[in-house]
Amino acid sequence: MAVAGAAIAASVAVSTVSAQSPAERSIQYRQGVMKAQGWHTGNMAAQVKGDKPYNKDDFLRSATFLSQLSHMAWDGFGPGTEAGAPTKAKPEIWKEMDKFKAVQTRLQTETAKLAQVAATGDMGQIKGQFGETGKVCANCHDTYRTK
Ligand code: HEC
Repeated sequence: MAVAGAAIAASVAVSTVSAQSPAERSIQYRQGVMKAQGWHTGNMAAQVKGDKPYNKDDFLRSATFLSQLSHMAWDGFGPGTEAGAPTKAKPEIWKEMDKFKAVQTRLQTETAKLAQVAATGDMGQIKGQFGETGKVCANCHDTYRTK
């Protein structure tokens, strides 16, 4: 009985925790964080372009979230996560992880500045720093993401 019970407990744990492979979970996790980054960057872009009225608190909220998100996606690029689910991440990432990490650090620096500048409410400064942030996104995507 004890053995059967343990087997049932183990199969329940397996089916609830890892119905997906670890690589698949990592890939979906990193894509989820990237989507969240895209959400908040899009919200700020709309205000910078004037497609949506600028609201200081709403912009600052997205800038703050983006600054926090800039630390999160990278857990999803661990060893062995080059493949295992549909992904646009290039294999170069795992061959030059130090360079990839350097771009992550740049994103963290620029988004932290963006959050600071957003707190001033000065659209001139905000536009400039939003542009700097967008360059880091584009630079990494050009280098490490397939089209
Ligand atoms: C250090 C590199 C790097 C930086 C910086 C970066 N990204 Fe990404 N991003 C990637 C990679 C790699 C992928 C592809 C992930 C995959 O498919 O597994 C990606 C995918 C995405 C996706 C598509 C997600 C999906 O699967 O639907 C969006 C949206 C995105 N990034 C937004 C952003 C935004 C916005 C920024 C800047 C604020 C940014 N990223 C900065 C590397 C980066």
